[in-house]
Amino acid sequence: MTILVTGGLGYIGSHTVVELLQNGFQVIIVDDMSNSEKFILDNIEKVAGKRPVFFPFDLRRKELLAQVFDAYEIDGCINFAAFKAVGESQEKPLDYYENNLFSLINILQEFKNRNISNFIFSSSCTVYGQADQQPIDEDTPLKTPESSYGKTKQMGEEILKDFATAYKKKVSLLRYFNPIGSHPSALLGELPIGIPNNLVPYVTQTASGIREQLSIWGNDYDTPDGTAVRDYIYVVDLAKAHVKALQKLMAETSETVIDIYNLGTGKGSSVLEVVESFERANDVKVPYKICDRRDGDITVAYANADKAERELGWKAETSLDEALRTTWEWQKYLESRK
Ligand code: UFG
Repeated sequence: MTILVTGGLGYIGSHTVVELLQNGFQVIIVDDMSNSEKFILDNIEKVAGKRPVFFPFDLRRKELLAQVFDAYEIDGCINFAAFKAVGESQEKPLDYYENNLFSLINILQEFKNRNISNFIFSSSCTVYGQADQQPIDEDTPLKTPESSYGKTKQMGEEILKDFATAYKKKVSLLRYFNPIGSHPSALLGELPIGIPNNLVPYVTQTASGIREQLSIWGNDYDTPDGTAVRDYIYVVDLAKAHVKALQKLMAETSETVIDIYNLGTGKGSSVLEVVESFERANDVKVPYKICDRRDGDITVAYANADKAERELGWKAETSLDEALRTTWEWQKYLESRK
C-alpha cells in the first residue's frame, strides 16, 4: 500500500512516516520545506531503515501534484501540510485560508478524479473552542475557533464531510489535543521557527539557556493551581493513531465513511505541572515568571479519547515525564549539530 503523506517532514508528519514505514507501507512525502529541514529526511531513513520517496513542492502547484499521482499508484493520503501558527494566522488570514484549504482541495480533486479513497485529515481540538464540559468527547458541540488557523481546521473538516458524502469516500478527521515530545532515538522532533509560541518548545529553550525565562500566561484561571490546563499527548503515540485510523479506513466495507476521533491522553495538566514535570524528568531548572493571560487562550481542554480506544484499539501510553524527557534529548541533539 502506498500512502501520500503531505507535510511528511514536519513535526507530527515525520513521526507518522516512521510508523507507516515500520508497518510495511510505502510512503511518498510531498513537503515544501516551509517548516522543516532536509536532515529530517535522512533521519527518517536512519530510524525506519527505509527512505521514503520525497518531492519538495507546494501543494498549490496542481500540475506537480498531478505528476505524482501519474507516477505512483496511491492508496491513501495523510494530510499534515498546513500553516499552524495561531498568532500569525490572525495577521495573515488569507495566507492561511489559501495555503491550508487550496492544498487540501487540490489533493481531494485528484482523489475524486482517480477514484482513490482513504483520506486522513489533521484536525485540532481547537474546533471545540472553550467547551462547556470536560472531558471533551466527539459529540461535544463545535464552536467557531477564534483564530483563522482554527477556522481552516473547522472548514477543512466540513470540506471532507462533503467530499466523503458526495463522492462516496472514506475519511478520518483526527482532532489532536496538544502534541509534545520527540522520537526516542532523538533524531526527530519539533523545529520551532524563531521564538516558540507553544509551551513545551519554550520550556525546552528556556532550560537550555536560549530563552532567559518562561512567561506563564496567567495564574488566575479557574483551575486547581490557577494556570491553564491542556491535554499533552506524546507525538509517537499520536503518530501510531494515524496508522490505526488508516488501517480501519482501509478495512471498511462501506463506500462512505466519516470517522472522527479525539486524540489525547484523557488527562489535563496545568502549565505549572508541565514545568515541574520537565524539571523532574530532566533534572534541570526552568526559570519562569507569571504574566497576564494571553489573548484567545481557553481555560481548560482535555480529551475523552474512549472512542479511539474502542474503535481503533489505540490509547496514549506515554507519561508526561517520559514525553518531556525525549524533548530534552532532542534539544541536546539539535545543539550537538551546531
Ligand atoms: N503558555 C505559557 N507560556 C508560553 C506558551 C504557552 O504559559 O510561553 C501556556 C498557554 O497560555 C496555554 C498552554 O501553555 O495555557 C499551552 O499553550 P500552547 O501554545 O502550547 O498550546 P495551545 O493550547 O494554546 O494551542 C494548541 C495548538 C494549536 C491549537 C490549540 C487548540 O498549538 O495549534 O492547541 O486549543 F489550535
